[in-house]
Amino acid sequence: MKMSVLPARGLAGTLAPPADKSVSHRAAILNSLASGEAVIDNFSEGADCRSTLRCLRLLGVSAEKITPEEGSSETPKLRLASPGLENFHEPVDILNAENSGTTMRFIMGLLGNTHFVSVVTGDRSLRSRPMGRIVQPLRLMGAQVMGRSSDSLAPLAIRGGDLKGIEYTLPVASAQLKSALVLAALFARGETVLHQPALSRDHTERMLSAMGASLTEDGLVLVIKPGSQLKPLDVTVSGDISSAAFWMVAAAAHPNAKVKLTNVGVNPSRAAVLDVLKAMGGRIKVENPRMEGGEPVADILVESSELTGVEIAGDLIPILQDEVPVLALAACFAKGTTVIRDAQELRTKESDRLQATATELSRLGANVRELPDGLVIEGTGSLKGGTCKSYGDHRLAMTLGIAGLLAEEEVVITGAEVVDISYPNFWEDLVTLTST
Ligand code: S3P
Repeated sequence: MKMSVLPARGLAGTLAPPADKSVSHRAAILNSLASGEAVIDNFSEGADCRSTLRCLRLLGVSAEKITPEEGSSETPKLRLASPGLENFHEPVDILNAENSGTTMRFIMGLLGNTHFVSVVTGDRSLRSRPMGRIVQPLRLMGAQVMGRSSDSLAPLAIRGGDLKGIEYTLPVASAQLKSALVLAALFARGETVLHQPALSRDHTERMLSAMGASLTEDGLVLVIKPGSQLKPLDVTVSGDISSAAFWMVAAAAHPNAKVKLTNVGVNPSRAAVLDVLKAMGGRIKVENPRMEGGEPVADILVESSELTGVEIAGDLIPILQDEVPVLALAACFAKGTTVIRDAQELRTKESDRLQATATELSRLGANVRELPDGLVIEGTGSLKGGTCKSYGDHRLAMTLGIAGLLAEEEVVITGAEVVDISYPNFWEDLVTLTST
């Protein structure tokens, strides 16, 4: 699908971004470990979370939508009923995570504790993403795993079993890897000690602790003690800051904008985009901070701002990494140079996001240079129009959609349907906020 976006005369309004994808995956997968029923309010409607539900159903978990009565102000809910990990069925078919790295890596961790054979695969993008980082520690714990390319790419076949706890240093600050190993460790013999190179999102730790798991954190060391009885947990999912980030950048970079984003998750292990935009001079107010389901939540007000270039590197990267493409777009409208470094992990996402961002923003007239581990952007204060492509990457498609609002002429995005992965209503919301 092609989408055409015209320059916006202004951006105004209040919007609740879609349910958090990371928290939705966790609400379904972590609850499926415990036997019993849980209700998840505001579960993500995105294709990635549908992939998670499809895989869980093949393992014997039931997930049904509770549709609110007509006219009711209630949000749709999901009722999840699990027989518990020890009663999972051997899947009668391949578990297909499609485009979702979170689904594949979490499911691998969970399958480490089942005694049957499962095969997991994904779409062309996911089949090219690194899985050796999961396979190696799972093998050290005692799982048998085989896959393409010396067991580093999906499809992967796994037979779990009686795992043992390990002490392990994660080679990358990845929340997906950390979470997969936590899931494996919860049912292993003996404790597992994970050393993390830097902080990454901690939604798994928060939710599992609320379910009764024994997890302790000391700086970057995470200790998992198996044996606790896990209880199902009703979860209310807040709005996704990674989705909200598109509107934050749109409003900050547009000369005539005032946008309020309500009910946004602002977990500090995830929300560094707020700090970076503020450091760039973004006029951002975080209002009405509160806790919801163990996660910090707030409303965010963003107005037209005079942006300045910054350096984004080091430990900041893992806590804002999905926002790098849209921050690179913000940098095009900032005075001076923005340098993004230590972000080589972005090359292993749904697309090579460093290459894709540099290529597509350059196509629109941006001054962007690619580094092996980042980007250098000279702010020019404007972009021209043009036709660009999404690379089948939802975050690229949405970044280019925002570029269209800010550019001088029409921007056409091919492969625009991919927003369905995390934000099915993105194009509708874009129209709602825009005056042309
Ligand atoms: C996610 C972790 C991040 C992020 C992804 C979602 C998660 O990936 O990029 O979109 O929900 O845990 P990595 O763990 O590979 O860094």
